[in-house]
Amino acid sequence: MFPRGRKILLGVSGGISAYKSCDLLRRLQDHGFIVDVVPTQASLNFVGKSTWEALSGRKVYMDLWSDVEKIPHISMAKENDLIVIAPATADLLAKLAAGRADDLLTNIVLASTAPKVLVPAMHTEMWLNPATTENVDTLRKRGFIVVEPDEGRMTGTDIGVGRYPESTKIIKAIDDALIATSDLVGKKIIITAGGTREPIDPIRFIGNRSSGKQGFALAMAAASRGAQVHLVTANTELPNIEGITVTNVETAEQMLAVLDLEFPHCDALIMSAAVADAKVVNYSDFKIGKESLNTLALIKNPDILKSLSGTKKPGQILIGFAAETISDVKELEANATAKLLSKSLDMIYVNNVAGGAIFGSNVTQGLIIDRDKNIIQVPEISKDTLADILLDQLVSKLG
Ligand code: C5P
Repeated sequence: MFPRGRKILLGVSGGISAYKSCDLLRRLQDHGFIVDVVPTQASLNFVGKSTWEALSGRKVYMDLWSDVEKIPHISMAKENDLIVIAPATADLLAKLAAGRADDLLTNIVLASTAPKVLVPAMHTEMWLNPATTENVDTLRKRGFIVVEPDEGRMTGTDIGVGRYPESTKIIKAIDDALIATSDLVGKKIIITAGGTREPIDPIRFIGNRSSGKQGFALAMAAASRGAQVHLVTANTELPNIEGITVTNVETAEQMLAVLDLEFPHCDALIMSAAVADAKVVNYSDFKIGKESLNTLALIKNPDILKSLSGTKKPGQILIGFAAETISDVKELEANATAKLLSKSLDMIYVNNVAGGAIFGSNVTQGLIIDRDKNIIQVPEISKDTLADILLDQLVSKLG
């Protein structure tokens, strides 16, 4: 339950200490990271591709010409929360300082905006060479984090500065680099997404137009800020997010059953799912004839948020969503505030979905309202951006 979804890209360049990165990979995994390894061609003289695939449990890409349709250098640059290159040879440092991109790893580095940690390891003379010193200075000025190599025995009989440091020292540098975006580390967050469906017969259901995009955006953002995320998703067609727990449900009652079990163990619940308000009284195992459809009897579904807020422990945060068809902002605000109070929520995001707006779209606009009556007017922004704004609010409420 609740694995941590942060992803790290481990670049390995061609130095003898590449074998030490096998231990680094394991320690990063122990730390809860998903690790993709990108070795340079030269590094394969020291550690083979199969070793990296076996240790990481993931496919290893090395060149720009495999799976080209997935544009691996761009997708890997975007997907990873941090890049660490260990060992970083003098040649690789020179290439990065020059902004060159002649293989997969250097392309990814140029394309990525994530924090980058370099772990130089080489003979003392190479490390102290003014060319290397200048390259390291240039890279530091550009924001690369360069871990100082250790001093000690080199390959052969030499002794000096240039040794590959212990994995713990590298992981400390990685943790420090991630601190700015690690404000949800150690927090367990449940996020619901999509829209529940209430079956009428084997063919028909009562449902709604929720696509699940906002819930998935929240899950992705929360995982990359270090949270342990459990996504409870109803009838969405979105691709799975790696590294988070996903439970698929269909109906409101199934969603409630999962949340009844999981809610006591989480720090926050974000209910972005659109839960069907009613279900049919008697589900029919056989198709109901057209003539009988107008006699369908409906009954209200349980209100999941209301039922869970009654069991809320001190410190737990509940965030609700409300989709309305109200264009007047004051009325929208009053309506959402009433819902926030009636469901004992800490915060609610309300939006006006009239005319087919927002459901299924990549953008959203609305109001964020909290218990202290603070209101944030959200102009039209992407659902990814809203996810980060809501999580910023959540972090401040979690304390
Ligand atoms: O009352 P309304 O359906 O507008 O409230 C919306 C919020 O309440 C959403 O966060 C939704 O996930 C949640 N909800 C619920 N159980 C229901 C209906 C809605 O938890 N039966």
